[in-house]
Amino acid sequence: MLKGKKILVGVTGGIAAYKSATLVRLLVKEGAEVKVIMTDGAIGFITPLTLATLSKNPVLNEFYEPLSGSWNSHVDLGLWADLFVIAPATANTMAKMAGGLADNLLLAVYLSARCPCMVAPSMDADMLSHPSTVINMETLKAYGNIILEPDTGELASGLEGKGRMAEPDAIVKEIENFFSKKKRKPAER
Ligand SMILES: Cc1cc2nc3c(=O)[nH]c(=O)nc-3n(C[C@H](O)[C@H](O)[C@H](O)COP(=O)(O)O)c2cc1C
Repeated sequence: MLKGKKILVGVTGGIAAYKSATLVRLLVKEGAEVKVIMTDGAIGFITPLTLATLSKNPVLNEFYEPLSGSWNSHVDLGLWADLFVIAPATANTMAKMAGGLADNLLLAVYLSARCPCMVAPSMDADMLSHPSTVINMETLKAYGNIILEPDTGELASGLEGKGRMAEPDAIVKEIENFFSKKKRKPAER
């Protein structure tokens, strides 16, 4: 279903980062070419080795390697991708995206990417309903990003509420729908 599609998966520092392993595995299984960008925060939750192995590509995190001087071009990465999926998206990363900050590789790629961007928020219910987060999500929607609504249920905080990241198989379905709609309407982005 996703053969030939180039998908950039952004992983940020939320507890749902463990689900990004399943997401990457499913995308690769569907035939997509996958590259993963992690924030420093994400590396505390899931190892780059896991995501590099599943995606069959080195994980991207730094703008450059201080010793070798080699660097990752955020512009090239943004142009490479047919779709950028940020899952999980923390409150922090969404705030920075809404504000146009570019202080890590994931954010710089987001700002320079020409492809559409899907965002799967994941956080505690109170963080999600905070007016700042609500406004940031509205801003991201207004910029044309596709927000994948979080699910309601048991949260890592031990509380019940809305904030669970959409399940990986549901995200893959959204991605497949997105590409099949695009095929039917070639004139639209
Ligand atoms: C155990 C733990 C779980 C966390 N889970 C979340 C979460 O689910 N969502 C969220 O927005 N922030 C969560 N945070 C806070 C983020 O890790 C923190 O805001 C961090 O700065 C995010 O950085 P990033 O957006 O660059 O990845 C958690 C922190 C800890 C210590």
